[in-house]
Amino acid sequence: MFFAACVSLSLVVPLLALVPVPIWTQPEQVHLSYPGEPGSMVVTWTTFSKAESKVEYGLLGGRLFEMTVGGKYTLFVDSGEEKRKMFIHRVTLTDLKPAAVYVYHCGSDDGWSDVFSFTALNDSTSFSPRFALYGDLGNENPQSLARLQKETQLGMYDVILHIGDFAYDMHEDNARIGDEFMRQIQSIAAYVPYMTSPGNHESTYWNLGSAHIVSISTEVYFYLEFGLELLFKQYEWLKKDLEEANKPENRAARPWIITMGHRPMYCSDDDQDDCTKFDSYVRLGRNDTKPPAPGLEDLFYRHGVDLELWAHEHTYERLWPVYGDKVYNGSKEQPYQNPKAPVHIITGSAGCREKTDLFNPNPRDWSAFRSTDYGYTRMQVVNTSHIYLEQVSDDQYGNVIDSIWVVKEKHGSSAWS
Ligand SMILES: *[C@@H]1O[C@H](CO)[C@@H](O)[C@H](O)[C@H]1NC(C)=O
Ligand SMILES: *[C@@H]1O[C@H](CO)[C@@H](O)[C@H](O)[C@H]1NC(C)=O
Ligand SMILES: *[C@@H]1O[C@H](CO)[C@@H](O)[C@H](O)[C@H]1NC(C)=O
Ligand SMILES: *[C@@H]1O[C@H](CO)[C@@H](O)[C@H](O)[C@H]1NC(C)=O
Ligand SMILES: [Fe+2]
Repeated sequence: MFFAACVSLSLVVPLLALVPVPIWTQPEQVHLSYPGEPGSMVVTWTTFSKAESKVEYGLLGGRLFEMTVGGKYTLFVDSGEEKRKMFIHRVTLTDLKPAAVYVYHCGSDDGWSDVFSFTALNDSTSFSPRFALYGDLGNENPQSLARLQKETQLGMYDVILHIGDFAYDMHEDNARIGDEFMRQIQSIAAYVPYMTSPGNHESTYWNLGSAHIVSISTEVYFYLEFGLELLFKQYEWLKKDLEEANKPENRAARPWIITMGHRPMYCSDDDQDDCTKFDSYVRLGRNDTKPPAPGLEDLFYRHGVDLELWAHEHTYERLWPVYGDKVYNGSKEQPYQNPKAPVHIITGSAGCREKTDLFNPNPRDWSAFRSTDYGYTRMQVVNTSHIYLEQVSDDQYGNVIDSIWVVKEKHGSSAWS
């Protein structure tokens, strides 16, 4: 039938119309993110033809799709040579009941997604959110992906933190690699907020349970061609954000300050990355720019950042509390109990085509535990004094190969002395 229609059309329209152009209004690459406002959730998806942006949703057990909310799309034109076009749809749901389960689909009358569900985040400061976190997860050889999909669907996590480096690379094959990666992670990201730390130039924060979590770009220290002002803008933004988070009433409600950024300040890998150098750019800044660019270690230390999460190195490494290249254990027996400096975790081994990295055989004394297994980290912000972290090895079929409790009776820069 289709062929016959084409033939008859071709009698009256020019030859070009013979090439069928598929209509792509079917939603794909559905993912959630938490914009930080209690009771809200953002649903994002892609279509390749123009279509409306709607989410239909309702409480689990209630009438399906009883509520509808509209949003917006933006046209994204890939900068590859095909200049592929796609429509990125974003809809914000508000007034969600804390801890309630919602069932939803997204799209428009030109095509709906599958049906998904999520649990609205509990906005109480005594909520103990559970995270899976990692960086460097690719489209090719995404080794930990299946385990993460299953664990997410089992309800083990409230939020996922992806600390930079997605897909390898989002832009390859005219962004088709990115599309395929976003399809792969839909089975995680359509169910729980999938929060990222960019390889580009956004910084953002959000509050969850007793934690204030800040996501930064470390790339501004490296891609100076995008403009040094991004680096300074982020630094000023961070300073303001950390000052605000340190106001007594804010720090009392959310005493944990956790940062996530892609390239670490410290690492003991055997490559020539920034973190292998004593004077890493992220840590100490750059003096080959005009004006010189301040690093982040002092800023974070001065504002009493408790925990710093990094990736980029394709390994897992846990550090003793460290500042200025020196170890500041809480005590020799209990290094993470009232530590006298921030705690750093590097978790960049979720799975990527470059394989895991090698370690330097002689690490410095801040290096506490290292593994080259593929895997990811779990974290629970239990309460105002306790955070639990553990490392899952995918190579060892999900075994936990490392774990710590960080315990702090006191937060803020005064906790260091
Ligand atoms: C949110 O979490 C707190 C702390 O665990 C709990 O007491 C409260 O009942 C939860 N809220 C809802 C709506 O489940
Ligand atoms: C500039 O920074 C480099 C390391 O990035 C350091 O070795 C050098 O001593 C610094 N120079 C000055 C003048 O501070
Ligand atoms: C920090 O604590 C660990 C674990 O007890 C210990 O091995 C290390 O030597 C300590 N470092 C310093 C500088 O005290
Ligand atoms: C925080 O959680 C830890 C670990 O579960 C527990 O031992 C401690 O009593 C809790 N503290 C408060 C203030 O609830
Ligand atoms: Fe990276």
